[in-house]
Amino acid sequence: CRFLRGLYLMRVVCLISGKGTNLQALIDWQANGLLGDARIVAVISNTAAALGLERAGNAGIPTKILSQRDFSNRCAFDHALIQFIDVYEPNLVVLAGFMRILTSGFVTHYERRLINIHPSLLPKYKGLNTHKRALGAGDKNAGATVHWVTPELDAGDIIRQVKVPISREDTEETLKAKVLNAEHSLYPSVIRDLSLGLIKC
Ligand code: GAR
Repeated sequence: CRFLRGLYLMRVVCLISGKGTNLQALIDWQANGLLGDARIVAVISNTAAALGLERAGNAGIPTKILSQRDFSNRCAFDHALIQFIDVYEPNLVVLAGFMRILTSGFVTHYERRLINIHPSLLPKYKGLNTHKRALGAGDKNAGATVHWVTPELDAGDIIRQVKVPISREDTEETLKAKVLNAEHSLYPSVIRDLSLGLIKC
C-alpha cells in the first residue's frame, strides 16, 4: 500500500451497510490507543439506516451516505463511491460488513489498499449463509477471515484467520454470535499490524 510507516498515520476509511459492530470494535481499539498508527478518518454507508453511522457519529468520525438506489448501474455507483472515499485520501479502505459486490474497476483502483472480513474460514464458504453451511457440513470449526480484496468474490490473499470451535449445541444464531465476537479482535489486530508494518501490504 502507498503508506510510509512511521512518517504518517495510516488513514482508514470504513465502508459499512448495517449494525457496524466491527466498526465499533475498531473505534474502541482506537479510543484505547490500541490501533497502532491507524486512524479512522471517515465512515461511508450505502444505507441511511445503518446503526454504524450512529456509532461513528458518537465517536466524532465524519460520515457519508451513498445509496445505490440513486444510480442506474453498478459502475456508476462504484465510480461515485471512489470519489467519496478519495476525498479522505485513505491508505487503507476497510470493508466492515459492506454488503455489496464491488466492480473490478473499484477493486483495481484500491489494489492492495482494500481489505474485507468474511465470516468463514476461507476458502470455505464464500458468499452468504456461511454459518448455516458450516453447520450443515458437520464442520468442527467455523471462523472468520481477513483478506485482501480482488475482483473475484472472497478470493483474495488471506491476511489472517481466527478459528471458532463448533459445539453440538450450536445453532446458526449462536455460531454467528461466537464468530462475530471473534471478528471483533481479529479485524482491529490486523489493521493495527498493517499500520505498524508487521503485515506486508
Ligand atoms: C460480519 O459478520 C462480517 O464478517 C460480515 O457481515 C457482518 C457485519 O457485521 N461480512 C460479510 O458477510 C461480507 N461478505 P457488523 O456490521 O456488525 O460489523
